[in-house]
Amino acid sequence: MPSPIVVLSDVLPGDAVAALKASCEVRHVDGRDRPALFAALSDADALIVRSGTRVDAEALDRAPRLRIVGRAGVGLDNVDTVTAAERGIAVVNAPDSNTVSVAELTVGLILASVRHIAAAARSLAAGEWRRADFTGLELAGRTAGIVGYGRVGRQVARRLAAFDMRILVHDPYTDTGTIGDGVRLTGLDELLATSDVVTLHLPKTPSTAGLVGARELSLMRSTAYLVNTARGGIVDETALLEALRAGRPAGAALDVFATEPPGASPLLALPNVLGIPHLGAGTPDAQLRAGQDVVRKVLEELAPLPAPATTAA
Ligand code: MLT
Repeated sequence: MPSPIVVLSDVLPGDAVAALKASCEVRHVDGRDRPALFAALSDADALIVRSGTRVDAEALDRAPRLRIVGRAGVGLDNVDTVTAAERGIAVVNAPDSNTVSVAELTVGLILASVRHIAAAARSLAAGEWRRADFTGLELAGRTAGIVGYGRVGRQVARRLAAFDMRILVHDPYTDTGTIGDGVRLTGLDELLATSDVVTLHLPKTPSTAGLVGARELSLMRSTAYLVNTARGGIVDETALLEALRAGRPAGAALDVFATEPPGASPLLALPNVLGIPHLGAGTPDAQLRAGQDVVRKVLEELAPLPAPATTAA
């Protein structure tokens, strides 16, 4: 029987690729190059992606033999899961792979924001010595507002509690019974109005796209910071640009953008924006877990069915 064909359209750790190669033909392709992706998919059994490949209905149309899409990471917003389900194509991800990496990056961005670390470093490198311009906030005693209390939100809460912050959470899918000690569940408006740091940890879906728009930003304190390591498009970037120019909130740290890469986004030119290129899962630890988890699931799906038992006549 010929080996199953697996299209790999993003980079996976070497161990994970080697595990695939043991029983499959592996085809590497740049997922952003649509004609190359479509050509590779024409007789593929499986496709493995990260966030850089759009697996929409058009891509699925080009893949008549496809049995499974593996997302080496968490977010499935780049995969048309509805069309895949209609066509009987399994979709799997690696939901636990990058929780800690994203939570740790979030804490880093919060500290960098409230202490102006990136701006101060740029200033020093430019030969300046402007200590008075970079006075910041202590986190202790201040309030963190966590929007979305799933895997990452909970890990961020634990870490910020260790900084002696008060923790508010908004999550329509969480009830007080599972919230944990020292954490208060609240409405989004109250969270926005009373937090010193607002950090987003929810998937991008039709109901969360644009969740933080002009009205929500106007509720934030003028001294507060917004951090987004979840998904671009949850925050309305045009509204954020206006809000930051007007000085409310005080600043934003963005790991994710509505369009990636964001190109010459005017947001990145603002002195009170700290932008980085979608690095939440950017650790070997998270990549290894994501690669191994998704490859295991894909190989399970591709494994030949056991031969039916035969009974002696
Ligand atoms: C994820 O959803 O897993 C992260 O955003 C990381 C990524 O897309 O590579």
